[in-house]
Amino acid sequence: MKYAIFSDIHSNYEALIVCLKKMQELKVDAHAFCGDLVGYGPNPEECTRELMKLENLTSVMGNHDVALFNKDFSRWFSEYASKAMVFTAKNITAKSKKFISKFLKEYQGAHFAMVHGSFNDPYRDYLLTPEQFIMNLPKWQGNICFVGHSHVPFIMSYREGHIPQIDVFYGRDVSIKLMPGVRYMINPGSIGQPRDTNPRASFGIFDTEKYTFRLLRLPYDIKAVQTKIEAAKLPQILSDRLPKGV
Ligand SMILES: [Fe+2]
Repeated sequence: MKYAIFSDIHSNYEALIVCLKKMQELKVDAHAFCGDLVGYGPNPEECTRELMKLENLTSVMGNHDVALFNKDFSRWFSEYASKAMVFTAKNITAKSKKFISKFLKEYQGAHFAMVHGSFNDPYRDYLLTPEQFIMNLPKWQGNICFVGHSHVPFIMSYREGHIPQIDVFYGRDVSIKLMPGVRYMINPGSIGQPRDTNPRASFGIFDTEKYTFRLLRLPYDIKAVQTKIEAAKLPQILSDRLPKGV
């Protein structure tokens, strides 16, 4: 079974359609979304409509998605994230909100587990250190777990009795042969707002039979998104950061 693993779309329609087209070309069997469909970007409704079209989609909710339903979660937002959330709430239909409301808090499946931030706190905890990785290990079953939230693609691995390994991909396209008996937490990076100093949209392919994970980086029309961000009068930082990948 071939899964497309993707995260942090953040209402970036131009990046999303490029990635969805590639997933289709690669003939994935199913889609797994690690959260943050909305927030920051100019096209929350259009992006939600694209996800609605996907067959075999499993999604977990991100902190920007949950803030659509519970304003308490925007307490931790930066000023520009809060402004973008006001824009998002005004530019999304009830039908799309209903679709997002069904995203899971966390997922534990036959092939992998999935959560947006971490199992300690799905909406606030950024999984970044070996200590956090070790603390999360008892909280999910199986050997593969996908996360989002940091917008940085990485793979963390742990074999019983060994020191955990962390590899940040920093813009590289990589293909990894996963090892039996090793537990992995993998971030496929961000489709709509990469922050690993590479502006290309990021997502992964998990092949359960070959037992591989491949990370792909794709260019998209950043200028078109910047024009929309500026026309929507969203904070300037949301436009400026896209070509820098920060
Ligand atoms: Fe995010």
